[in-house]
Amino acid sequence: QKANVSLAIDGPAASGKSTTAKRLASIFRFRYIDSGSMFRAVTLKCVENGVDPHQQPDKVASVASSLDIQFPDYGTVSVNGELVTHQLRQESVARAIGPIASNPQVRHTLAEHQRRLASTPDARYPGFTHGKETIQGVVMDGRDIGTVILPHAELKVFMVADVRDRAQRRFQELQGKATLDQVMADIEARDLADRTRTISPLKKADDAIELDTSRLSIDQQVAAIQKLVYQKLQQHPTV
Ligand code: CDP
Ligand code: CDP
Repeated sequence: QKANVSLAIDGPAASGKSTTAKRLASIFRFRYIDSGSMFRAVTLKCVENGVDPHQQPDKVASVASSLDIQFPDYGTVSVNGELVTHQLRQESVARAIGPIASNPQVRHTLAEHQRRLASTPDARYPGFTHGKETIQGVVMDGRDIGTVILPHAELKVFMVADVRDRAQRRFQELQGKATLDQVMADIEARDLADRTRTISPLKKADDAIELDTSRLSIDQQVAAIQKLVYQKLQQHPTV
């Protein structure tokens, strides 16, 4: 017997979503879909091609639909066959993302791609055995996964953390490429834009479980969600 589960992980910038989602996917051998990287990929290509996201929304939309965004492995991203994992993490990309994330045509194109990937079986992600069942699934992280993209996900987690902790984490990742104050200001600006846009804002789904990661280690975050998955499986033996 086979069962399918979807895990939706949402929350503000640097709350720990992608690190946790990636680990969980690899533990459960589920597919991992990093929706934030899709928005970052569209932004990177717009910047490279000199498309102005504020002045040229239609061009941004055609860039979005021209891109083949794939996740060849847990944590790597390719666009039209080229690996762009590291370029996507630049602060310049994060800073330019606002008008692209609030472009309805871009969101429509990416939502279709996200749902298509989520429902396409892939032999690389065989799932795990639970009793007599094979549990296959997908872990997707972002801002609107539990609310809009996968509203029927079996488990929804909304990760939060104190903004100072989040800024400190991102600052460490950037290894001196920006000051702590800059990183904090960028995170606050992006959170505000994400929470207040009219289309698919950052918001906890009513049935999501909130997890505050401010005082948790990565291992503790992962263990907490793993436990929730097993609890779900216990409640609904055939999810
Ligand atoms: O890793 P970090 O939290 O900094 O960002 P990300 O998850 O890579 O997402 C980058 C940006 O893409 C977010 O600030 C959102 O503006 C946008 N995004 C979105 O609008 N919807 C999603 N499902 C995922 C990301
Ligand atoms: O995907 P999101 O932007 O929510 O966050 P992330 O990229 O997974 O995590 C941001 C940074 O915080 C990464 O460098 C993690 O290693 C680090 N971190 C964490 O996720 N959880 C902790 N408890 C401590 C650090």
